[in-house]
Amino acid sequence: NLDYASYLKGWIRTVPDWPHEGVMFRDITPLLQNPKSFRVLIDLFVHRYMSEQVDLIAGLDARGFIIGSVLAYELNVGFVPIRKKGKLPFTTVAEEYVLEYGNASVEMHTDACKQGDRVVLIDDLVATGGTMIAGYKLLKKLGAEVLEAAAIIDLPELGGSKLVRNEGLPLFTVCEFE
Ligand code: PRP
Ligand code: HPA
Repeated sequence: NLDYASYLKGWIRTVPDWPHEGVMFRDITPLLQNPKSFRVLIDLFVHRYMSEQVDLIAGLDARGFIIGSVLAYELNVGFVPIRKKGKLPFTTVAEEYVLEYGNASVEMHTDACKQGDRVVLIDDLVATGGTMIAGYKLLKKLGAEVLEAAAIIDLPELGGSKLVRNEGLPLFTVCEFE
């Protein structure tokens, strides 16, 4: 008789010292692999957004694609990928952000959304918030109205969720890990 958040959190695996020593990696593959937890997750997002007149789901490379595309399909709206640099073939807009070591950038096709489109931005996890904020900036460049960002996991100690909300972007996450 767990609530959805604790139930879903229970399907996330922690892998110590990956990708390097000292990191506790929160791995969503068990949650996706189990048909029941996968469905509970998607249904939670569907219920949250089904009455919000969403026009489009934007998913962040790569794990945001897994959740975002299923959510878009269920909401009967389109899906657009926000990809890491150099992957998209058509004309793009790009946004750089800072990583632990160096910079990264994400890109979107210039025709991926129209002025005024009501968009929900999806990823699996918010750590420093850099990826989510870069995605938000791209969507705004193209004139989208970003209703909310959503992820399964927040790592609040890294401060990213606070930064996302300080940008003026509402953020919904299912569970937190210290
Ligand atoms: C991870 C995660 C988020 C991002 C969060 O992706 O899936 O997209 O990092 O970190 P941030 O809040 O500090 O920006 P990763 O870069 O590992 O890429 P992948 O999904 O391609 O493995
Ligand atoms: N899990 C998945 N992606 C991540 C993590 C994590 O713990 N930290 C930063 N990106």
